[in-house]
Parts: sequence; C-alpha cells; structure tokens
Amino acid sequence: MKCPDNMPKKKAPMNRSLSLIKGDTLKYAERLIVLKKKAVVIEIIDKTINQDLFQVIPLLPDNFIDLLFIDPPYNLRKNFNNKLFREKSINEYAEWIESFIEPMLRCLKPNASVYVCGDWKSSTSLHLVLSKYFIVKNRITWERDKGRGSHTNWKNNTEDIWFCTRNRDYTFNPESVKLKRKVLAPYRDNNGEPKDWKNSENGAFRLTHASNIWNDISIPFWSMPENTDHPTQKPEKLLAKIILASSNNGDIVFDPFLGSGTTSVVAKKLGRRFVGVELDKSYACITEKRLELAENDGSIQGFYEGVFWERNSNPKRRV
Ligand SMILES: C[S@@+](CC[C@H](N)C(=O)[O-])C[C@H]1O[C@@H](n2cnc3c(N)ncnc32)[C@H](O)[C@@H]1O
Repeated sequence: MKCPDNMPKKKAPMNRSLSLIKGDTLKYAERLIVLKKKAVVIEIIDKTINQDLFQVIPLLPDNFIDLLFIDPPYNLRKNFNNKLFREKSINEYAEWIESFIEPMLRCLKPNASVYVCGDWKSSTSLHLVLSKYFIVKNRITWERDKGRGSHTNWKNNTEDIWFCTRNRDYTFNPESVKLKRKVLAPYRDNNGEPKDWKNSENGAFRLTHASNIWNDISIPFWSMPENTDHPTQKPEKLLAKIILASSNNGDIVFDPFLGSGTTSVVAKKLGRRFVGVELDKSYACITEKRLELAENDGSIQGFYEGVFWERNSNPKRRV
C-alpha cells in the first residue's frame, strides 16, 4: 500500500478509492487466518489466508477447487508493498509458474476450470506450463483502456487470460455472460421486424455471446468505489465474467495471489464460496474490508440487469 493506515492521504473530492483508515488493520487482521497444519475445507472456506503461498499449498485440502483464478506477479519488475518481484528469463518464469501449479493439481476437482493472467512477456512461459498440465481452451485478450505511453515502443494496452480445464467435462455458462452491444446498422427483415436486435429508450441494442476479445472492461480508477491502492488490481467486472461463465452457485473459487481481494469479493457478490491467499497483510486487510462492504452492496460496475454493458454505455452509469 502506498499509505499506512495511520497516515490517511488527503483525497480529491471525486476520489472514491477505498483505503485502510486508522484502526482498520487491527480490526480486519483478526479475520485473517494462517495455516499451521493440514486444513479441512470448513476451516478455510470464505477466508483470506495471510501467508506465503508456497507454505500454504501443502496444507490445503485435496479436491476442493471448482474454479482456480491465478493472477500472479507478471514477468516484469514490480513492487508489491516493498516486496519486489524481478523480471526473469522465459524459462525461469516458466519454472516459477510450474513450482506452484504442479503441487496445486491435487486441490482441483476433476471438472475444475483454471484461468491464468499474464501480459505478452509472461504468456510464452504460461502457455508452455499450462499445456503440460491442462487442456488449454483459449487465450482471452483483455484490451484495457489505459496503457503507459512510450516514445520507443507500442503502448502496452492488453493483457492475456489463459482459460484451461482439467478434462473435457467442465462448467461453461455462455448465457450468463452476454454482452449488451449498441447496434450501429439496425437492419429489418422483409416484414419490417428488427433483425436480431431490440429497441430501447437508449437506442437499438443486441445481446451477443462473449468472444475472446474483451474490450468492455476498464481497469479500476480513482473515482470508482472498487478502487484500492493495490498496484495491479483486477476489475470486478472481469472477475464477474469468469466466475459466472465457469462456476455455479455455491462452487468454490480459489485465488492463490489474492491481492486486494477482487476474486473473493466478486465470488461473494455472485453467491459462490471463496478461498484466497495473500502474502501482504495490508492487502489481505483491504480484502476483508471489501468483503464487509459487499454484505450490503452486491453491485458490480458494468454488470447490470443480468448483462454486461459495453464500456461507458450503461444509462445507470454503472460501467
Ligand atoms: C498481480 S497481484 C494480484 C492482484 C489481484 N488480482 C487484485 O485484484 O487485487 C499479485 C499478488 O500476489 C501477492 N503475492 C506475491 N507472491 C506471493 C506469495 N508467494 N504468496 C502469496 N501472495 C503472493 C502480491 O502481494 C500481490 O498482491
């Protein structure tokens, strides 16, 4: 975190970001757990494990994960609250990824789905490792609307999300993740009826099946209430697509690099169970704060009336 909880930063009026305030660390740290011996599911369900993943893996139960979402440090130099992750060669990064994927296999149910995030530099290593252990079903390209400008290279504006399954029998709910898209050319058939689109007070739209290019999701920014100080926070809308498509009510979603808690928070909002692991105490505490807020606010920006809205298109301003 950029700011310890006893030194609140002065916020701009439109800044709705969530941070820890005085007393929060003490309050939320009490809800975190640390594993000392092999756990059973009931001990870890709906909990945040505040510990090094490599210590945690041998203590996790067998066969409990329906959906595994992995958002590891990407293969670049990045500072997570004074813990530095260093860029590695393609092979070294692949070895590092494999060092937690392989021992986690026993924790997956046979019909589990697995999503792994990376940028273009991480993806070669990810593909090599994932194809060794899973059926690689797809690589989703997420076009973020924000990227760092550069005078010497193309702006880095996309991330990859690899979608894998353990076998050919797995959950996939395409109807739950339809995109509400504006229709630019509203053709009609010979009877004058709309061809595959509907009219609304906001113009013609069509509900389409989601493709492997996601360009309707912005990274959290400071005027969004889901935003925190975490440097690489994933948007709730992105997790909502993955959780709705690849799990059912009551399923267990596991995130071994939980960060600010997006996966657990969205799992809770969508009626799933969750378990997350995060090394850093401040990030784990902000997760608990977000989980508490989710008890009274189940909204997910950009997901409204059961559909995903194109960027900046929702009349209720929830995108
Ligand atoms: C890319 S971030 C995940 C961000 C998260 N998806 C979110 O929405 O906030 C990776 C996280 O993994 C944590 N991490 C790194 N190494 C870890 C380890 N060995 N065990 C547990 N957590 C670790 C970092 O502190 C960081 O918060």
